[in-house]
Amino acid sequence: MDLGLQGRRALVMGGTKGLGRSIADALAGEGAALVISGRDQGRLDQAAAELKAAGAASAAGVVADVARSADMDKLADAALAALGGVDILVLNHGGPPPCTASQITEEALLEWFQHIVVSPIRIANRLIPAMRERGWGRVIVVGSTGMQHPIPTLALSNTLRASIWGWLKTLSGEVAKDGVTMNILAPGTIQTDRVTQTTTVRAKQKGVSFEAALAEAAAEIPAGRLGTPADYGPMGAFLASEKGAYITGSMIRVDGGRVRGMV
Ligand SMILES: NC(=O)c1ccc[n+]([C@@H]2O[C@H](COP(=O)([O-])OP(=O)(O)OC[C@H]3O[C@@H](n4cnc5c(N)ncnc54)[C@H](OP(=O)(O)O)[C@@H]3O)[C@@H](O)[C@H]2O)c1
Repeated sequence: MDLGLQGRRALVMGGTKGLGRSIADALAGEGAALVISGRDQGRLDQAAAELKAAGAASAAGVVADVARSADMDKLADAALAALGGVDILVLNHGGPPPCTASQITEEALLEWFQHIVVSPIRIANRLIPAMRERGWGRVIVVGSTGMQHPIPTLALSNTLRASIWGWLKTLSGEVAKDGVTMNILAPGTIQTDRVTQTTTVRAKQKGVSFEAALAEAAAEIPAGRLGTPADYGPMGAFLASEKGAYITGSMIRVDGGRVRGMV
């Protein structure tokens, strides 16, 4: 199947490792031109070189911290300068610290609202108008199955991701006629540094080893194992492709069957 991604121009935020990187890898394999962002130029340069070697038409890394709105403007400018336009925008960031709902503080809410809601919407507002003018665009939010089935130990994530889902669902209805699709790609438990972090916390809370906590997490998944980045990224490339033109306003799960509900 030709996904039609050759030469398409993509900005993948949080593209140095983990889920963002898995989408960047899949896009690189299809010949897309890439800009990735993160917080460290050395890590970005390394990842960009690997993406180029994997087939990207071009690849460059831009330092931009989602904690700062000004960095989103800088990132949009740099991506436009490097690519000449952005056809595919992957909104992604690091995960908020684990906590229960009763542990949420106002300070943490405001801090993470910036990462999860304000910065993604700010950069989307910069880049989506030109997609609409060109009549073609793809926006993918790296989400979480916690948006459908709240995860008790990730209350900050559950709470704030509901906002970005509400925004995406609403805007997707406004831009669909202009050829722009917007979807959430929701991971279940995919083995990345983030999952190492959350599993370490859970192991400590339960007084079990890291390996035991990991095995317990895998046992809850019908597929019988945690996911890998290679399970996740290709669906991102599909949603970004010509073939994904009629999929919009949706939340697509990549979770090995972990969410048991029917929506
Ligand atoms: N993995 C899962 O199973 C899973 C499940 C549900 C939800 N999620 C969510 O998916 C998102 C990505 O998770 P992941 O597993 O890919 O995590 P990860 O492996 O820790 O990767 C996070 C990425 O975000 C970048 N990043 C972190 N903080 C940043 C900041 N302040 N500004 C700009 N970039 C930043 C990192 O780059 P640098 O470190 O180079 O800056 C890295 O590229 C998170 O929001 C996470 O909560 C993940």
